[in-house]
Amino acid sequence: MTDYFRRHLGARLFLSYMAIILIGAIVLVISSQFILPAAFNRHMAGMGMMMGQGSGLHSEMTPFYPEFRASFNEALIYGALASMIVAVILSVYLSRSVIAPVRLMSAATDRIANGRYEERVLVEGEDELAQLATRFNQMAEKLNQVETMRRRLIGDVSHELRTPLTAIKGSMEGLLDGVLPASNETYQQIHAEADRLNRLVDDLQELSRVEARAYELEFRALEVSALVQTVTQRFAPQFTAKRIDLDIELSPNLPRVLADEDRAIQVLTNLVANALQYTPENGRVGISARRVGTEVIISMQDTGPGIAPEHLPHIFDRFYRVDKSRSRRAGGGSGIGLTIARALVEAHGGRIWAESRGEGQGSTFSFTLRGEEP
Ligand SMILES: Nc1ncnc2c1ncn2[C@@H]1O[C@H](COP(=O)(O)OP(=O)(O)OP(=O)(O)O)[C@@H](O)[C@H]1O
Ligand SMILES: [Mg+2]
Repeated sequence: MTDYFRRHLGARLFLSYMAIILIGAIVLVISSQFILPAAFNRHMAGMGMMMGQGSGLHSEMTPFYPEFRASFNEALIYGALASMIVAVILSVYLSRSVIAPVRLMSAATDRIANGRYEERVLVEGEDELAQLATRFNQMAEKLNQVETMRRRLIGDVSHELRTPLTAIKGSMEGLLDGVLPASNETYQQIHAEADRLNRLVDDLQELSRVEARAYELEFRALEVSALVQTVTQRFAPQFTAKRIDLDIELSPNLPRVLADEDRAIQVLTNLVANALQYTPENGRVGISARRVGTEVIISMQDTGPGIAPEHLPHIFDRFYRVDKSRSRRAGGGSGIGLTIARALVEAHGGRIWAESRGEGQGSTFSFTLRGEEP
């Protein structure tokens, strides 16, 4: 019961009103017991004196009632006074407990609006105001996280942009100073760096679109085999050139998956591109799909370098590359591909993860899509 009052502001307000009424009533009862008779006697004595002074002719007609009323009013005034004192004390206490946290929160809101996202308010008690304070702190925490992410993103993006820009600038300076020969190779290098820059900007744009969910998913029932075929056909020449075996193994009676066709192909493309990119010549890449419960798990397995356990939790982070210099030399990407794939899979309500038994052991990337209800 006390718990209930501690947790509900309304109950406490109600309780204080009841207290005021109760105190008023008690004082009224006490005063009617003790003060009323005394006051009545006093008033009656006064009247008796008046009567003694008067002619006495109309003494039996003298109204007792006004005297009674005056003494009753006196008792009433004591009751009202006592109630008022209690009301003042209770309302001061209550408004303090209501207004103080509200004031604190509005001051904190001001500071947050001015960019101080680490601002928090003290949570006291368990009532609605305390809940509001807790939510307020959660909101501030979220804002702080978003702000940190924004800062980190700007830092990362500028860092990523600087690398190809520095290379282009260096080559151009070399050309101008005559240190670098004005050969086809030099121009090609510059072109490749400009190309990198271009791809990076495209990827970033795509990532921001995907993360902001600035697109509509058109869910349709799709055959997994058709999706896989579309993607593998696109990469067939590169697989042949690198002499990488491609095995496709789809379990029988696979249900169709509910997905947006373009986006599902984009996820597959990112994973197959990685498998192709990181698997050395004469390797093997396997694509498989199986049903687990209501989901279909699509997996990509390769005989590439694998991923060390300490890197596994991070490879879906934006700009994360296990070996920056290696992926750069290999004409590698910017570390956004998997981030985009994860955002897309999660937008479909699925999960995506990577497994690897360690360096040199190859890796497996899997994601889930919802299967069509039979
Ligand atoms: N199949 C794989 N085998 C080994 N490492 C991989 C594999 N796929 C991804 N990785 C590691 O994860 C990192 C992140 O991959 P991700 O696809 O996000 O970026 P990327 O391929 O470097 O660039 P891009 O943005 O062009 O795709 C890669 O840099 C690589 O280190
Ligand atoms: Mg990639």
